[in-house]
Amino acid sequence: MNQRRDFIRQSAMGVLAFPALNYSPGRSYALSDIPKTDDNNEDYWKIIRKQFPLKEGQTYFNNGTMGPTSGYALDRMIHHLQHWAIHGAEVDYKDGSGPVLLSGYFPYEDLRKKIGEIINADFREIALTQNATFGMNFVGNGLELNKGDELLNTNQEHGGGFAVWQMLAMRKGCVYKQATMPVPANDPQEVFDVIFKEVTKKTRVIAIPHIVSGYGTVMPVKEICAEAKKRGIFTILDGAQCVGQIKVDVKEIGCDAYYSSLHKWLLAPAGSGILYIDKDRVSEVWSTLTSYNWDNQEDHGFRLMQYGTGNPGLIAGFDAAVDFFNTIGEDRWVGRIKELGDYLRNGLQEMDNVKIHSSTNSVMAAGITTYSVDGLTGPELQKTLWEKERLQPRSVGQEMMRHSVHIYNSKEEIDRTFKVIRELA
Ligand SMILES: Cc1ncc(COP(=O)(O)O)c(C=O)c1O
Repeated sequence: MNQRRDFIRQSAMGVLAFPALNYSPGRSYALSDIPKTDDNNEDYWKIIRKQFPLKEGQTYFNNGTMGPTSGYALDRMIHHLQHWAIHGAEVDYKDGSGPVLLSGYFPYEDLRKKIGEIINADFREIALTQNATFGMNFVGNGLELNKGDELLNTNQEHGGGFAVWQMLAMRKGCVYKQATMPVPANDPQEVFDVIFKEVTKKTRVIAIPHIVSGYGTVMPVKEICAEAKKRGIFTILDGAQCVGQIKVDVKEIGCDAYYSSLHKWLLAPAGSGILYIDKDRVSEVWSTLTSYNWDNQEDHGFRLMQYGTGNPGLIAGFDAAVDFFNTIGEDRWVGRIKELGDYLRNGLQEMDNVKIHSSTNSVMAAGITTYSVDGLTGPELQKTLWEKERLQPRSVGQEMMRHSVHIYNSKEEIDRTFKVIRELA
């Protein structure tokens, strides 16, 4: 609460004295604070940790739910809001400066091009959305689906992966099916097989996660999409947990549609998502939200982002988060997540009182590890880790702990997790 008051006081003083300055709590952040070096050691990552306002002495291990915003993206977002709240009257809307006052009517080509470079797509194949859930709904509601069409999920979907397909079964008489995933999932072929066991000649859509929310399993999506393509099935991947956690190349994967929440692993501000639809399939998807550009046939991504008025500060923060990611560099960023994920899994595997539910096959695991500790429920373990060491992973269900690691985490923080769990034995 005190911290919040300080923040408000500083912000208010900033407005009075220096309208164009940053309004971050205590310090300002710049991309030039990120060292230009090839070093990839713990010292480098300590400097990166300092690019996050996250309180020192507390450890956030819950990126699977929401990624913390970097100081740089936060500054750009707050600065944008405050600056235009003050200078709004100077804007002549007709001259093209509308995006400084509101979002929702503009194509944001530059931001979509930057995202296109990350996921290997043309910007016209990408719509900016609020989150993954929008992506699922835009595709589900936009496809012409009919009574008897089969729609296939796994039994490990998030609500943002299953709900529209269940709704379509009720509304249109489609047939909703689920493939039963193995736990743990360590064999890509087994995952492939459980999915195609449920496929019939009537299957129209395969909608599966690229990374499973609960277990962090990295699915063999390339092989699944290739087989689906042979059978003429539309593939849509729920990549909510993916962009920023692992490399995503939608062309290499070969899916028809892909959606992600960039406020998770890309660390964009809450409300930053994308929907990709392959240019050869996008004409099969009607617009769900409509405004002026609802029928734009040149830029389908823009056609699918007809939201009406939205918050331009969020776009400024979203754009800044992409720049932050690019400044650190994708290889180094996703490499660090994998390194820390492996470090966590290797340590947990050595403990007799721990059971790992996630994949321990390195190609099927990245930054999320789900496990349980003998004698404790998930919520009890979460409480213990917080009380003893100020570590905050997230329990899922009653039994399991879902532990996410990201670039702002360190091996030392993971070691402290091991210490607490060892003491519980
Ligand atoms: C696999 C998966 N899909 C969809 C979602 C929904 O994401 P959002 O709430 O950002 O739309 C989540 C959120 O955790 C998720 O993990």
